[in-house]
Amino acid sequence: MEKLVIRGGSPLKGKVTISGAKNAAVAILPAVILADAPCILENVPKISDVSAIIEIMRSMGALIIETAPHTLRIDATGIRTHEILHEEARRMRASYYFLGVMLSKFGKASVALPGGCDLGARPIDQHLKAFAAMGCRNVVDRGMVFCDAGERPKGAHVFFDIVSVGATINAMLAAVKADGLTVLENVAKEPHVVDVANFLNMMGADIRGAGTDVIKIRGVRKLRGVDYSIVPDQIEAGTFITAAVATGGDVIVDNIIPKHLETIIARIREVGGNVVVDEESVHVRRRGPLCATSVRTMPYPGFPTDMVPQFSILLAMAEGTSVIHEGIWSNRFRYADELRRMGAEITVDGKLAVFNGVEKLKACPVVSTDLRAGAAMVIAGLSADGITEVGNLGHIDRGYEDLVGKMKGLGADIERVNIPDDPEDIFLKAE
Ligand code: UD1
Repeated sequence: MEKLVIRGGSPLKGKVTISGAKNAAVAILPAVILADAPCILENVPKISDVSAIIEIMRSMGALIIETAPHTLRIDATGIRTHEILHEEARRMRASYYFLGVMLSKFGKASVALPGGCDLGARPIDQHLKAFAAMGCRNVVDRGMVFCDAGERPKGAHVFFDIVSVGATINAMLAAVKADGLTVLENVAKEPHVVDVANFLNMMGADIRGAGTDVIKIRGVRKLRGVDYSIVPDQIEAGTFITAAVATGGDVIVDNIIPKHLETIIARIREVGGNVVVDEESVHVRRRGPLCATSVRTMPYPGFPTDMVPQFSILLAMAEGTSVIHEGIWSNRFRYADELRRMGAEITVDGKLAVFNGVEKLKACPVVSTDLRAGAAMVIAGLSADGITEVGNLGHIDRGYEDLVGKMKGLGADIERVNIPDDPEDIFLKAE
């Protein structure tokens, strides 16, 4: 079993470079299948969610090679199947993007999808609602989703009942080669939604309005191969900004789009961070003692749910009482027990968490309960005096490229170590 061993208590100092956005990459990679020629993707993050998508695409017949660090040449023109049964697809939520892509490419899709996830129930009713409006017959049976739109989807007017990132992107993917005009209303405005639209437009799609509440897509027949660079990861940037403040550090977070971080930066300033914004970087320091605040998560441009666990570490150490009202997921606070073990005072009631700030967190063994919670445990460990061990690293690897290397680059005392699971193993090794 692998663990992180963190000797905390020292401020982070230096410069860190942010990787490409996970949530854009997991949609843009499958979207390459729509191009009539090979594509070059740059700034692709080296994370296990991306490896899983690459593995699925290779199993379908795509030729994918790394031509330079973080740059992939993808030739998906040989893909002839609309069926995805790969085990990775069953494990990964984002494999639902293959539904929209296959519908666009072949007019039909069969994809094995997972059910719920660590954050709570994750229905895809809004994805299916959009497909149905586009003339598609959908059947969900024993973990498989089957969609059939005949020759191709038809342009339609879709009003989403809730704002969903996945449904917005999936509907865009399905509509890109549809007959006629599709209008999507009440859509998500996240930077990765805009990035996917930019990528498709560069290929020759006709998508307008991404980043607003209404997206209009006029179907086109052909999409060309392009060279595209994925946007920087807003949440990875937010994680390092938070870590800098939590440890009382002095960090430049580089290769970012500051506009995407406005809400996060506003909240960081409120709790006691000093953030100076430059064109493609921010300089982050701690102003003084951390101050309590209240946060409600909302779709972009609101405060992102994916920053809740990391931001919690600041609130756990802020003087006074803070509140987080989670507006998206039913199970966001699973890490609360781990944080309590470190001395934090947190009460959770459904989607509400109340923090009574303590002066210091105490180092102890903890586990990652999900991707962002894992990053939060690392920040907590870096802030606490003594040695914290973080287990269950698979979650962190899903979405953070070389978190240990980047933290070390900022002076953190952090190691990834292999610890034998079974006491008997230790005995055998001693022999
Ligand atoms: C994406 C992100 C995830 C982030 C989330 C919210 C990716 C790969 N993942 O997930 O990191 O936490 O956005 O910003 O981009 N819902 C329905 N029906 C649907 C779809 C969603 O009820 O058909 C609900 C969900 O249960 C949730 C809310 O809508 O309560 C938002 O979900 P959504 O925006 O779709 O999240 P994802 O795209 O899965």
